[in-house]
Amino acid sequence: PKDVGILGMEMYFPRRCISEEDLEVFDGVAKGKYTIGLGQEYMACTDDREDINSFALTVVSSLMEKYNVDPKSIGRLDVGTETIIDKSKSVKTVLMDLFAAHGNTDIEGIDSKNACYGSTAALFNAINWIESSSWDGRNAIVFAGDIAIYAEGGARPVGGAGACAMLIGPGAPIVFEPIHGTYMANTYDFYKPKLDSEYPEVDGPLSITTYLTALDNSYSRFREKTAKAKKLAHLHCHANGHTNGHSNGHANGHTNGHANGHANGHANGEANGKSAHDPKSVFALDDVDYHVFHSPYGKLVQKGHARLLYNDFLSSPSSPQFSNVDQALLDVSPAASLTDKNIEKTFVAHAKSAYSSRVGPSMHCAKRCGNMYTASLYGGLASLISAVEPENLRGKRISMFAYGSGCASSFYALRVKGDTSEIRGKMDLLNRLASMKVVPCQEYIDSLKLREANHNAAAYAPAGLLENMWPGAYYLESIDSRYRRKYGRV
Ligand code: ACO
Repeated sequence: PKDVGILGMEMYFPRRCISEEDLEVFDGVAKGKYTIGLGQEYMACTDDREDINSFALTVVSSLMEKYNVDPKSIGRLDVGTETIIDKSKSVKTVLMDLFAAHGNTDIEGIDSKNACYGSTAALFNAINWIESSSWDGRNAIVFAGDIAIYAEGGARPVGGAGACAMLIGPGAPIVFEPIHGTYMANTYDFYKPKLDSEYPEVDGPLSITTYLTALDNSYSRFREKTAKAKKLAHLHCHANGHTNGHSNGHANGHTNGHANGHANGHANGEANGKSAHDPKSVFALDDVDYHVFHSPYGKLVQKGHARLLYNDFLSSPSSPQFSNVDQALLDVSPAASLTDKNIEKTFVAHAKSAYSSRVGPSMHCAKRCGNMYTASLYGGLASLISAVEPENLRGKRISMFAYGSGCASSFYALRVKGDTSEIRGKMDLLNRLASMKVVPCQEYIDSLKLREANHNAAAYAPAGLLENMWPGAYYLESIDSRYRRKYGRV
């Protein structure tokens, strides 16, 4: 299959949100702490009427309705979430209600879990299936979503809620490139060991340095693999000439390296005035047009983007763009650099205009919904598709940084090969974000108390009002004495 990528996309978020400016007053913290210090604007919230299954039913059914997807045309459905309500039964099995009723029970894929990374693991599984020998010709759907809530304290303002569904298949307007730079390690920065609570254990400072370490490492691996692919493509071209090199690459199983080498060499090399086949040229931020990051809160995305520029500086300190950067910064050790305020300030300032043009368009969902955990990165992509005119997005390359505490991370890229108008129009994202209802902070606290009191409850009917739900959304109707959940639709 050619051009495997995103054929359709849908976002879901609760109808209500609270303002971070209001929350500063409500919590009695210094003005600017959440809005300027953490870069937050609003965060979406819900009560006990919604759970991860209702999020999944809502956004997947909406995707299928908007794109007129025949339930029988789906051969794989992968789920990424960390909003765990059952230690055994997956969210995927609940979603089967949307397919089994139409006679389709032959759908592979199941839930993937690791903090905010589950969505990317699910997506990679779906892509790999389509590109594998067991592919049966049908499309895949990926669902990712979470209800992000924190116990009272420093992390509470960085919660949120939201979900995403993507239709994945060949011939897509937004195509996945094959190179992934991945970094995974055993860390205790954010984890959920208390199965009777929805709240995580968080080591805030460690979560920030782990995010940046993951970014450094996955970016480095991505750059190394890109250089290697370019070198391979260069060797092939020289040994066999253009046409032969290409067909040989395919015959010998070098398809990925080859195809990528060509794509990168041509598009980026030319764009940057580098030789299209210069095997020494190092991948840099400028080789991509837009950057989408997993967004725990706005400020960390800004710091992450600046961090990538710092990585570019380390590999090409004499590049003209760094002529006014203090070369003494090269001497800071990698470990010390993670918390070095001077490095952070220098590169945040240096990256400022690039941040607003290349990262800013992907921040609409995060600004309104807060952290959506697994849906955060893909809400970023949905924002970018919504914010940039399709004719300006066509041909552009987008980098993606996926991060989940604990930790798992990947840096990869997408290419917009076709027209994004349909996706943009059907999502209608910016209008829907704007029409969310901003409610008083006390309503948020009351909702959290309701969730706390009823988490793990049996023989229970939620108290949350249906008038707080969007029309067409699924809601939790009841949980019976044997913990079986029943859903209704507004
Ligand atoms: N006006 C402007 N800025 C302010 C103000 C103010 N009144 N008060 C504080 N600030 C600034 C601080 O200077 C600091 O800036 P800096 O980041 O540039 O140093 C920033 O606000 C944060 O303030 P702190 O006191 O350092 O941190 P806080 O105690 O608020 O905790 C943290 C922040 C650690 C992110 C916390 O919210 C948390 O634990 N969050 C959950 C974990 C998380 O999201 N981690 C990210 C990756 S993991 C994931 O995705 C879940």
